[in-house]
Amino acid sequence: MTQATTTLRRSLAQAPVHNTPRRGVSQAHTATTGTGIGAPLLQVDGVSLEYRTPQHVVRATHQVGFDVHEAERFVLLGPSGCGKSTLLKAVAGFIAPVEGEIRLDGRRVTAPGPDRIVVFQEFDQLPPWKTVRENVMFPLLASRTLGRRQAAERALHYLDKVGLSRFAEAHPHQLSGGMKQRVAIARALAMQPRVLLMDEPFAALDALTRRKMQEELLALWEEVRFTLLFVTHSIEEALVVGSRIALLSPHPGRMRAEINSHGFDLGSTGSASFQATAQRIHGLLFDEDEEHT
Ligand SMILES: Nc1ncnc2c1ncn2[C@@H]1O[C@H](COP(=O)(O)OP(=O)(O)O)[C@@H](O)[C@H]1O
Ligand SMILES: [Mg+2]
Repeated sequence: MTQATTTLRRSLAQAPVHNTPRRGVSQAHTATTGTGIGAPLLQVDGVSLEYRTPQHVVRATHQVGFDVHEAERFVLLGPSGCGKSTLLKAVAGFIAPVEGEIRLDGRRVTAPGPDRIVVFQEFDQLPPWKTVRENVMFPLLASRTLGRRQAAERALHYLDKVGLSRFAEAHPHQLSGGMKQRVAIARALAMQPRVLLMDEPFAALDALTRRKMQEELLALWEEVRFTLLFVTHSIEEALVVGSRIALLSPHPGRMRAEINSHGFDLGSTGSASFQATAQRIHGLLFDEDEEHT
């Protein structure tokens, strides 16, 4: 895929679909599109999230706040049960905050929309009766974003990017877990969302495939420069994938710290500074004594 990535870079440079300023975007934001400075693209502002069952109320996150700028790779990192998935669902618009607000391009998020697409961990996110190409086309057609012919073209374009052109007419059951996740990523990117939301997308893959997928995701980001909000409970994955990391405390999730990780990639996992940062994060996540820092 790296080769395909290189050859596609030129054609993409001519059509930087993800960095096109939208209507209603503030002047300051437009002027700094893609640079990571200026008004944040996504604002999560003092957000508390709860589940209500007939018996009790479960608080999943407590007053969580962070900003994500255009073209950032922002990671939510925290132990299982700290509310990462719930936060992602709230950003997607499936759950409303009981306190605080989520804003995209300055507008409050109140419902799901094609500007926020989620890639989940599960391999069964693809309807099995549709071909790979039809799977990628489906949201484009269902949301009336494109007509059939254009949707097919765009589907093939993004399938090429994830190295699956040859499998366009295959069905999901003919693919490996990693390939299914590539289709899910192509399907999400084809919608050209403002933010790509990923909930532990590689957690169910074997270690080697997971590493490969991380590498491919970074190569894809280099090429497309989409804005990513990525959830993981793996410290190493957070450091490799993210440019910035929000650390969440155990249940209910609160903001623990923000870590700058843009200097790390797959090549730096063995380095002393990578290991030191991983240790520091481990301490912040699991050291009860630092609860109030
Ligand atoms: N549908 C639900 N009903 C009630 N409680 C839930 C539901 N989904 C998640 N929770 C609870 O909310 C908390 C956060 O869950 P979740 O966001 O899935 O955490 P994470 O993704 O970080 O593992 C957990 O304590 C979990 O048990
Ligand atoms: Mg989760």
